[in-house]
Amino acid sequence: MCGIIGYVGKGQAYPVLIGGLKRLEYRGYDSSGVGLIPSMLNGKIVLRKTDGKIANLEKLVKSQPIPESSLGISHTRWATHGAPNKVNAHPHSDNTGRISIVHNGIIENYELLRDKLKKRGHKFKSETDSEVVAHLISEYYKNDLKAAVIRAIKDLKGAFALGVISLDHPDELVAARVGSPLIIGIGKSENYIASDVPAILEHTKRVIYLKDEELAVLTTDNVDVFKFNGQKVRPKIDRVTFKLDAVAKGGYAHFMLKEMHEQPDVLKQMLNARIKKDAISLEGIGLTDKQIKAIKNITVVACGTAYHAGMVGKYIIESLASVPVTVDAASEFRYRNPIVDKNTLILAISQSGETADTLAAIREARKRGAKVISICNVIGSSLARESDGILYTHAGPEIGVASTKAYTAQLCMLYLLGIKLGAAKQHLKPAEMKRLIKDLKQVPKLYEKILANKNSIARIAKANSHFGCFLFLGRNINFPTALEGALKLKEISYIPAEGYAAGEMKHGPIALIDEYRAVVCVATQSDTYEKMISNIQEISSRKGNIIAIATEGDKSIRKHVHHTIYVPKTNNLLTPLLTVLPMQMIAYYISVKRGCDVDQPRNLAKSVTVE
Ligand code: F6R
Repeated sequence: MCGIIGYVGKGQAYPVLIGGLKRLEYRGYDSSGVGLIPSMLNGKIVLRKTDGKIANLEKLVKSQPIPESSLGISHTRWATHGAPNKVNAHPHSDNTGRISIVHNGIIENYELLRDKLKKRGHKFKSETDSEVVAHLISEYYKNDLKAAVIRAIKDLKGAFALGVISLDHPDELVAARVGSPLIIGIGKSENYIASDVPAILEHTKRVIYLKDEELAVLTTDNVDVFKFNGQKVRPKIDRVTFKLDAVAKGGYAHFMLKEMHEQPDVLKQMLNARIKKDAISLEGIGLTDKQIKAIKNITVVACGTAYHAGMVGKYIIESLASVPVTVDAASEFRYRNPIVDKNTLILAISQSGETADTLAAIREARKRGAKVISICNVIGSSLARESDGILYTHAGPEIGVASTKAYTAQLCMLYLLGIKLGAAKQHLKPAEMKRLIKDLKQVPKLYEKILANKNSIARIAKANSHFGCFLFLGRNINFPTALEGALKLKEISYIPAEGYAAGEMKHGPIALIDEYRAVVCVATQSDTYEKMISNIQEISSRKGNIIAIATEGDKSIRKHVHHTIYVPKTNNLLTPLLTVLPMQMIAYYISVKRGCDVDQPRNLAKSVTVE
């Protein structure tokens, strides 16, 4: 978590930094700060720090104006060590006040280092792990900032992306990374560092994705990249393809709403790019057709919403290809001695490609000899770089903290993978494959239909927004949809919500049902429809308030439930792609009605780069 941005150039640093922080706010938003080397050197790094959102920092700078400066660093924080307040906000400085740093990640051995440094006379102000980095660099500093940073890094354990400035080097910005993401933007007579591309997109599209254990020295006209042993490397400069409007709200009230509406296009683009004359192209997967055919079992590792996508993936792949799939929460996988070897294919799923637990899981699996392929949205992310094969979802930047389009893009990729695998294994007959591809291609149009019904879904959501507890039920391939519906609601509206396999209801959750609960039931036409109707009747006779997500044309369901949201008819296997949309919309409209911060819910951050 946390976002950092730094600037060195001929222009003014502050506007670039504050603009960049706003675009990084999705990474953390409990406090923020900026550190600048004034153009007219006066012996001090100018610091402005505050708790709360970036708007507070802007207010502070208005009330305490800053001098002209063309070198600076800034930070938006998601607290790990120490409360979110002004003192713990970044940048942190050494005792001389001549060196300041911003840090994203966790310094695991900070207590040990802090104790050592205290003995050497360093005085600490904050409760953070990050402050130790500033003192350590100062300890090793002998007129060469780059050398001091490299030396300090040798003592650090953990994950970090760092931006460092020093009064003694008023035209130099030093950056380094281990584990946490960091990119460099190449401008004209100005250069940037940032945690993510959107922060600098307004200024440049030319970026270097700094690799792990690399350090960069940026000046106005130059960027040099080094390994930690001091060896200079020639970095690859990439050109970002997405446009600035991809990271703007574009007239929508919230990023989440915009991203929900982008789903038809995201899927359309993926299907157009990946389906060629009824054959699936999984370019990037890093496996030959022969290797795909030879896959014997798959273990999915992922977190949160991506984990739910993996659960749907299990149903898809087992049904289409008859290949057994295990789905593990990445945070559990790594600590339970997983049975994984060179015959296991690990499938990691992640929007950001920076989730610490998912990365740790694939590293563990690779140690045990497994091959790793990933479904990931962020190009050049750590996950993409560390995988043997990568299937990019190309959903575009997802800014809303609650994942929407990234999830449906992950599902779509899992269908493509399932079909490819099923065909390779000859489990899926050519005619079935053709039909499924045809149905899949229809999905974007069906999305438009559901989205067009948004006023009615909003009405239903608002009418139920007063309930203090929600239960989400689904069966079979829509059981993960129920889990995802509950996750969406609780993260953006703070209403306690549980997702359950409907068949499990009698084994406990039914005790929750009374007139004060709302129950969202996925009851689309399928082999388990009758069973779902029985569950609905059980809830109804206990006075639960039921919202059913049903197949268009199913009028009879209405007599059992309070509200019905229809989704168009499609192949049963594809229903999770459709049923999740009303779930997202229910969560969104309830959150809005309750006055919650939809895009930046409390305590959360978009990419969880710490354990
Ligand atoms: C929920 C949500 C999170 C993420 C999870 C994994 O809406 O966004 O649960 O899905 O933190 O993140 P990625 O996919 O970036 O690995």
